[in-house]
Amino acid sequence: MKQKKEFLEHLGQTTEHPLLLEVESAEGIYIKDTNGRQYMDMIAGIAVSSLGHGHPRIKKALKKQIDKHLHVMVYGEFIQEPQLRLSKNLRKLLPKELDGLYIVNSGTEAIEAAIKLCRAFTGRKNIIAFEGAYHGSTNGSLSISSNDKRKKNFEPLLPNIDFISLNNLESLDLISNQTAGVFLETIQGDAGVQIPTYCFMKALRKKCSETGTLLILDEIQCGLGRTGANFAFEHFDIIPDILTLGKALGGGLPIGALVASQQMLGTFSNNPELGHITTFGGHPLNAASAAEFCAILDEEIDLKEVERLGQLLEKEISRHPAIIASRRKGMLFAFDMKDSQKVAKVVAHCLKNGLILFWFLSHPNSFRIAPPLNISENEILKARKIILEAIQESI
Ligand SMILES: Cc1ncc(COP(=O)(O)O)c(C=O)c1O
Repeated sequence: MKQKKEFLEHLGQTTEHPLLLEVESAEGIYIKDTNGRQYMDMIAGIAVSSLGHGHPRIKKALKKQIDKHLHVMVYGEFIQEPQLRLSKNLRKLLPKELDGLYIVNSGTEAIEAAIKLCRAFTGRKNIIAFEGAYHGSTNGSLSISSNDKRKKNFEPLLPNIDFISLNNLESLDLISNQTAGVFLETIQGDAGVQIPTYCFMKALRKKCSETGTLLILDEIQCGLGRTGANFAFEHFDIIPDILTLGKALGGGLPIGALVASQQMLGTFSNNPELGHITTFGGHPLNAASAAEFCAILDEEIDLKEVERLGQLLEKEISRHPAIIASRRKGMLFAFDMKDSQKVAKVVAHCLKNGLILFWFLSHPNSFRIAPPLNISENEILKARKIILEAIQESI
């Protein structure tokens, strides 16, 4: 723990009990600490490192771009080839209706931009979000997130936001021709992997279309292969009006994306002009990395295998008597235990035994798993053994 003192005394902290793993390097599904110990990374930096750490194609794309240029101008003025490559490669994965891309610096920023876009495009003020939602920590994104404990000290937040519950068809009556947009994580991540029903999502899409309300699906965590489909909305046969992306998209670099029709995105350039601007959005390095990420997802990630290996891991763990319930889609998992102390013990035992797990901000009785999507069957079996031992040790 060579650097612990500097970390605790001079870096702003987010909790009073950080994991304190001192990172030296990372490759594939492993993170190595400064004592040379290896850990299986079963959370991928919270659903970020979907291709594992240091994918050779990402590194190559980055090195090539470094030699060409770094920042040259604010977003939207110069034509930069990495941004165009990202747009083309991402569009290959998307339905044709979503033909416009606005690049920002993080998932949260994509949400902030979506809040502005749905209000400006519709000329309406009201927004509906969901109980259990997590969309980020800035003022706007926090306003449409539902954890009151985390919001209270920062009030007043944005007005005109109502919350409805997932899978409650009656609550859709709140959506009206006064509603600018409905924000929903297609699969709620931080709420403990809550999966809507097919019929609820169909009804939500229909209600939004009938009332001229924009449906904004947040796939910052659940998008880009994580659930065994390129986008989680594919599981429900619907298409959002606006899609927000982040996390895995950057291939390990920070980036966020607002995806909509190019016509709708025009709101930011004409209503008003310069309605949304960013200095570093679409940074050439991050865009080059994200463009390569999309190509690798398309060419190398077997989405059926993501689902098959997901099942392989879930089945055995969910059978353990200390696991009360589990929820999963592809490789996004939540396992519920009796209480948060048991969860903390499992996370601690796993770390001691060389495997990284984590918890959820708003679902304290569960531990989360979201490994790199290219994890092998042998690695899944190895991880499963360590996790089962940790569960056993925790009871
Ligand atoms: C569903 C969802 N939306 C938005 C965010 C915010 O993204 P970021 O913290 O990368 O800006 C997160 C982060 O965990 C998320 O899970």
